[in-house]
Amino acid sequence: MPLKIAILASGNGTNAQAFIDKRRAGLLDVDIRLVAGNRPGAGVFARAQAAGIPCCALDHTAFPDRLSFDRELVRHIRESGAELIVLAGYMRLLSAEFLSAFAGRVINIHPALLPSFPGVHGGADALAYGVKLSGCTVHFVEEKVDSGPVIIQAAVPVNAGEDEDSLMQRIHALEHRIYPQALQWLAEERLTVRGRHVHLAPSPKGKQAPDGPWLVWPPLEEGF
Ligand code: GAR
Repeated sequence: MPLKIAILASGNGTNAQAFIDKRRAGLLDVDIRLVAGNRPGAGVFARAQAAGIPCCALDHTAFPDRLSFDRELVRHIRESGAELIVLAGYMRLLSAEFLSAFAGRVINIHPALLPSFPGVHGGADALAYGVKLSGCTVHFVEEKVDSGPVIIQAAVPVNAGEDEDSLMQRIHALEHRIYPQALQWLAEERLTVRGRHVHLAPSPKGKQAPDGPWLVWPPLEEGF
């Protein structure tokens, strides 16, 4: 049985598109029951509609407070039958009530190597700080912004003088690979959370990831 998911997004929806494409290609065993979000004009809804996925666009400015908005969201998600909530560029803090309604069943992606550089501009903040490696992180969601047990991370070297667009493009390309992978691990029920640590059970197909690769950037020179 495919894992029933609801995607929450506020923006363009390229991560949602990656799920749609991977599912079509037969690589992702999920049933996308709902795409929901707080910005009715967001690009993610056009993508979902084109794929025939039910949408729920709720304008958060029409609600008196966060809690009433989140309650309506919870109602729609429950109706959809989704078992896992997948945040894909959802730029609103979730209330404690929302998170307890789906305890341990909310995941997120962030364009930086958490716990460094959480927040709305994580990718830009990391670049401005001058890091040599940035990247992206998929994690289970706790109440704090961009926080929770890490499922998978990808590191991206920052090239000298690189601008934000170029770095974010490379990070996005990796997001579209690691997020579907994390979701497929969940669909295969291979993840266990113990405290802050997420354990991945070996693949039933017997294929193991190779040791590494490890990444040091700038590269080490001879003798080191
Ligand atoms: C992604 O880069 C995601 O990591 C980021 O929003 C973007 C959404 O892109 N999320 C955060 O910054 C969470 N703090 P998309 O709409 O094209 O999928």
